[in-house]
Amino acid sequence: MSERKKVKITATGRYVPPKVMTNKDLEKIVDTNDEWIRTRTGIQQRHVAEKGVGSSALGVEAARKALDKAAFDPKDIDFILVATGTPDYYSFPNTASIVQKELGVPPGVPAMDVSAACSGSVYALYTGHQLVASGDYKNVLVIGTEVMTSILNWDDRDTCVLFGDGAGAMLLQPAAEGEGEILGHHLGADGSGGDLLMVPGGGSRNPTSAETLEKKLHGITMQGTQVFKYAVKAMADSTLKVLKKCNLQAEDVKLIIPHQANDRIIEAVSRQLKLPREQFLSNIAKYGNTMAATTLIGLDEVIEQGRVEKGDLVLLVVFGAGFTTGASLIRL
Ligand code: ACO
Repeated sequence: MSERKKVKITATGRYVPPKVMTNKDLEKIVDTNDEWIRTRTGIQQRHVAEKGVGSSALGVEAARKALDKAAFDPKDIDFILVATGTPDYYSFPNTASIVQKELGVPPGVPAMDVSAACSGSVYALYTGHQLVASGDYKNVLVIGTEVMTSILNWDDRDTCVLFGDGAGAMLLQPAAEGEGEILGHHLGADGSGGDLLMVPGGGSRNPTSAETLEKKLHGITMQGTQVFKYAVKAMADSTLKVLKKCNLQAEDVKLIIPHQANDRIIEAVSRQLKLPREQFLSNIAKYGNTMAATTLIGLDEVIEQGRVEKGDLVLLVVFGAGFTTGASLIRL
């Protein structure tokens, strides 16, 4: 068996579609208002993909940006992982295979979707880490991409105001001595919360029919208050678990990049962990909740802004439908 390799994030990228929908725009189509959305969630606007644009297209754009930064040819990618809860097609072909073709990654290279709702980014990062650490693969592309607006019920103000479209990407490669490295992860799931946050229609239990369409079962349904409470506990727990696993303290971490579901959830996690609010990224005002993309978009943004630098410790922590949860600790 070959020796386990250290793994680094060589480059990151992000892409959001150009069209912006503000809270004021939403006021025109659903019974809501800018003040409610801002004060209850922190969201001011979200980006919206044009009709007919699938998650693969956003993912390809984000991947191109990451690869350009590393001056890395897509032809040399040897594994593609795509975290998405809004694949181009239910249920095949998988979105990763579409990305392979559109990005110009050679046929024969494996391509796999990862389904863990908002936790998909960390689940995919974990998987990519193991692929490179094992020595089986050297240049793994990890993407989190969503067209959330394709699964919204625009009559349901409880949910349709919360989400947006976007994608983040990263290239994982073996790390040389002294380079940054992915230090560890914590992953978890608790299926008892499955009914609290779901898209009830369109799967094998409720195949698409006139009835599922009429009842609008193809949009997100959510028990917001219960989800909120679970999210705070799960993200605080996951943060502590990954720190313990890596034998590090929260104070060592330059920036925590939490899943962006609600600014008040981020606030509550920081209070629960007794950590300063400034140690947590919040960019939900601009993007809303882009599910599996939020933390990858966030990481790319803070690297670009110089808010984190080589050598800094960064912690991604997520929570999503399932319920699923996870955290990754990274030395940049
Ligand atoms: N505009 C105006 N009023 C609204 C809206 C809206 N968009 N939505 C709800 N309201 C009203 C409600 O009807 C209610 O009115 P009432 O008091 O007259 O009954 C009032 O506002 C308060 O509603 P609550 O649901 O109690 O509001 P709360 O403060 O709990 O916030 C929210 C709701 C934002 C949904 C919050 O519970 C939350 O963020 N939950 C978690 C969301 C989340 O994490 N989602 C996804 C995660 S992951 C994934 O995998 C997809």
